Parts: sequence; structure tokens; C-alpha cells
Amino acid sequence: MCGIVAYIGSKVARPILLEGLKRLEYRGYDSAGIAIIQNGHLSVQKKIGRVANLEAAIEGKPGFDGSLGLCHTRWATHGGVTDFNAHPHTDDRHGIALVHNGIIENYSALKTYLQERGHTFNSQTDTEVLAMLIGELYEGDLEKAVQGALREVTGAYAIAVICEKEPDVLVCARKGSPLLVGIGSENEYVVASDGAAIIAHTARAIHLDDYNVVKITREGFRTTDIHNTALSPKVQQLELELEQIELGGFQHFMLKEIFEQPKSVRACLGGRMDMREGRVVLGGLAAFAKDLTKAKRVILTAQGTALHAAMIGRYMLEDLAKITCTTEYASEFRYRNPVIEENTIVVAVSQSGETADTLAALHEAKERGALALGVVNVVGSSIARETDAGVYLRVGPEIGVASTKAFIGQVTVLSLISMHIARKRFMSADQCLDMMREMEAIPAKIERILEQSQRIKRITEKYVERENWLFLGRGYNYPTALEGALKLKEISYIHAEGMPAAEMKHGPIALINEGLPAVFIANKGRQYEKVMSNIQEVRSRGGHVIAVATEGDTEINKHAQDVMYIPEVCEPLSPMLAVVPLQLMAYYAAVARGHDVDKPRNLAKSVTVE
Ligand code: G6P
Repeated sequence: MCGIVAYIGSKVARPILLEGLKRLEYRGYDSAGIAIIQNGHLSVQKKIGRVANLEAAIEGKPGFDGSLGLCHTRWATHGGVTDFNAHPHTDDRHGIALVHNGIIENYSALKTYLQERGHTFNSQTDTEVLAMLIGELYEGDLEKAVQGALREVTGAYAIAVICEKEPDVLVCARKGSPLLVGIGSENEYVVASDGAAIIAHTARAIHLDDYNVVKITREGFRTTDIHNTALSPKVQQLELELEQIELGGFQHFMLKEIFEQPKSVRACLGGRMDMREGRVVLGGLAAFAKDLTKAKRVILTAQGTALHAAMIGRYMLEDLAKITCTTEYASEFRYRNPVIEENTIVVAVSQSGETADTLAALHEAKERGALALGVVNVVGSSIARETDAGVYLRVGPEIGVASTKAFIGQVTVLSLISMHIARKRFMSADQCLDMMREMEAIPAKIERILEQSQRIKRITEKYVERENWLFLGRGYNYPTALEGALKLKEISYIHAEGMPAAEMKHGPIALINEGLPAVFIANKGRQYEKVMSNIQEVRSRGGHVIAVATEGDTEINKHAQDVMYIPEVCEPLSPMLAVVPLQLMAYYAAVARGHDVDKPRNLAKSVTVE
């Protein structure tokens, strides 16, 4: 939610800022804005809509050719989607401009205080309050004013600030929301919410920590905390390739990422399965081997797609490792006073590693003495840094707002963790080997499903006008049904419900009318016959059944109007195949309906507010 880019150097800042902002658009795209200092004068432009609108608005406009500036793409929280509420926000005295990602929780009290001191506000945002507060405290030293203001605020922020009166200074700070300082070779610095906006310029960067304030000039930078104590942050190498964040011939990032899934699973498995010893090797968990062996309970916590992956992980941990396991929305876990007994492990599952709800749940779990593990994609993200240990997904940057390859990566890692723990408890080397061979075969099996994409597209287009869909599955594929429904909702704005196939007859069956599309995950497995009965219940009420079935199952054609086949696979790993046709269905439905697949309305890739 919300992306920030700032630049100071010797080049014209505008193209660097706008290019970076386009790469961060997945973080929010309600509005965009830019502020540039040229010849000691501040120019600001804000526009609702996409970065392209902003670009057009400043095309050829004077004042935007300086080499110091900042910009922002917004996902609205406080205040509607208007030009006024867009960032940057400015103060009313010194020509200060600020962009912000996060929420200033005590903005209302601060606003009253500032109004009493004669400041007038133009927007309804919490961010404008911070800009005004910095202005109120400004006495000729921007760094000092920012530190002072941040001592007064509560909440979360990643900010970049410039001031007309100091035309060679950029000040940035972070608490709770991510911010990286990219260090270029020719006295230039690109600051951004994530590496995607930096990597075209440099791979050397600093991940700011909470309460870090950095003052950057063309001569260098210094980092302090908000009390002005000097710090020495570590310069790291960004593990990101430019091609990973480009479309590479695909029409949308979502489609590219769906097609990348075989590669994602291979990358995720790489070096983690010891086929000679029949065991899973997870370096990140090595120091906690004893805790894993004696664990009595695992709580998997996440939001959205990551929660669906966690639900599959739960089935595996209980099935394979025989540990009591529960899953929970992080947002609920955080606030319901959970009981955490001794030997409990809490696993935070998150693509971005920045989801505020998941981060808050993690803090709560640590506070109550649990061992906190992370299953995270983004290296160096907040969750990755705050957990005691963890396992990275290694699927590369996911840019499509609707999560696909991260889901596959999360299920892969959770399978590995389950096998790793199982092997320490009940699983024999041979059983582990069998499962690892199944894992190894997954990428090629996903490739076989992807080869059917045109057929899946044709099936989807038959039903795309329908406004209500059901997704049904049992056992390991109940979470897959939830994920199929979520994908369809997110990008095609079709109402879809996912549920256990058996639950349908306890209420949702009332929804079935002539032609309602019901997608059943009906692969061969323990519950196949039962799923067939549920299919009959839909058919006899006029619903249209689209089945995800196992290759070679000819019987299914008697029951379902349309069938999408997946290769044979062991049950615990079947969601990794069954989800692929559902992802493709959602994608083709959104394209057929003319939606912007990578930027669905109202959503943000990473939600950094609770
Ligand atoms: C947002 C995104 C979802 C994502 C969820 C959790 O709601 O729109 O696609 O699944 O956050 O994100 P995380 O980064 O924690 O996996």
C-alpha cells in the first residue's frame, strides 16, 4: 500500500522518479504525485488515477527538471481519492514536501494542536498533519525538524521529505513501513519502498530499520535515530534482476507469474532435499532443531492467499508431522487474547513480509513466548527480520496484485517444513524419499497444466457473464476452493464463494439456480466418491459443474459439463496442481471482462495498515 520513490543526484530526477513509481504501482494506484526542487523552488503536482496521468500532467511543465525530488503512489486510507488527498503533502510556511506510507495514529490530536497554532489544512489525510508538524518545528535544519516531529507521532511511517530552503537535502525515515536507500555510483541516491524502483540504478542498498532517520546530500549520507544518535547501517546487495520485474512478452504480470510457477517450485526446492539421506534440509531452521522436535502446537497465521496456503500447511503438519496445528487470520489472533502454551511455534506466512496484521500477530506471539518462524518471500522484509528463524520462498518478486506464484511457494515451503519436522518425529527415510520424489515431479506436472491454458480459457469464457460462482473442494482442496474463489473475486469482480463441498448442503445450496457455475476440485483421492455425490446435488438443481479432475478419469465426464485435467499426484501436494487451472480461470475471466488484471480496483499488493 502506497509506494515512495525519492532521488538526489546529478541527473534530472523526474524520469527516474516516474520510472520507479511505475514499478511500485502495484502497491497502490488511486492517485500519484510528485515534488521537485529546481533552482531553489518547490513544484508539486498531484493527480488521481495512475502514474501515467501524473506523467502527462507535468509533461513540458516548468519547474520539474531539478535533480532532487520525491513521488508517491497511493492506496487511500484516510480521506477519499482526490487530488487534494494525494501525496506529496506540503506545510504552509517553509516549502516542505513529504510523501508517506503508513498511518499516523495520533493525527487528530496533532491536527487540533497545529490548527490552534494557526496552520490551515487542505486535505483530510493523516499525512498532511506530519508535513505541517515538521514545518512547525522547522528552524533551518530539516533533519532536526523531522526527528523532532517523529518523536511526537505514533503509528507507522516510511517518509521522504524535502524543503525549498535546503535544496540539496533529502531526509527519509522509517517505522513499520519499508524503506530502502539505494546508493548509486556517482553521488546519487534512490530511496524507495522496495528494490524494484532502485535496481535499475544500483544493487547496493540499506534497509532502514525502525526509527532510523537518514539525511542524504550529494556528498554522502548520515543515519541517526529520532533522538539524533548516529548509527552505522549495513550496506547490502539487492538480490533482484531487472528481468524479474519486467513483463518479458506477457500481457500481464499475473499471467507471467502463473507461467513462472514451475520455475518457482524448482527454485524453492533447490538444495533443500537430501535424496541420499531421505531428509529435508532447511538451513534457516537448523538452530531450532530441538524446538521443532519437542513442539506441541503450531499456529499458522496470515491473511488472504497466504492464509489459504497456511490452511494446507495445517493439514500437512497434522497429517505428516502429527502436531496439533491451527490456522488463524492474523488480524483476529492479534486481538483475541490467544492462549500460547509452552512449546508453541507461531508461523507467520506472508509474501511481502510487510502485512501489518501479520506483523502485529507476530509481535503478540513473541510477547507471549512462542518461537516465531516466518515463511516469507521478500528478503529482508519486516516479518523476515522480526521472526526468530524462517524459510524464504525464493520465488522472486511477485508484482501482480493477485498472488499466484507466492501461493505455490508458500505451499512448497510448508510441505518442506512439515516433512522436516515429520522426519524428526514419525516419518521414515523411505516415506520422506517418496514424498520428496513427488515434490520433484511437481514442476513438470504444472507445465502440463499450463499447456492446457487455451482450453481453460475457452471453458471460462462460457461462464464469464455469470455473476455468482461456487468453488467446492474437500480435505486438502478445501483451501484450494477458497483460493479459487478469492482469485475470481479479486480480479474479475465476480461474486464467488469457496467452501468445503460437504458444507454446501447446509445453506449455500439455496444459491444454486439454472446455470450457476460450480467449480469442483474432484481429483482422485480419499474423498472422490463423496465429491461425486456433491456434484450430483448441484446438477440436480440446474447448476453447471466445472471439474478439476485427475488425468485418465473418464467417469467424471458423465457428471461434469466441463473438465480441466491435472496430472496424478499424492493428496497432500494436490493443491499445488489443482490451484493452477483456477488461477488461469480467474485471469481469463478478468481479461474477458476487460479489467486491469494487475491492478484490480480497491486492492493493494501489500496492506501495511491494520
Ligand atoms: C493483500 C493482498 C493479497 C495477499 C494478502 C496477504 O490483501 O491483496 O493478495 O494475499 O494481502 O499478503 P502477504 O504479503 O502477507 O502474503
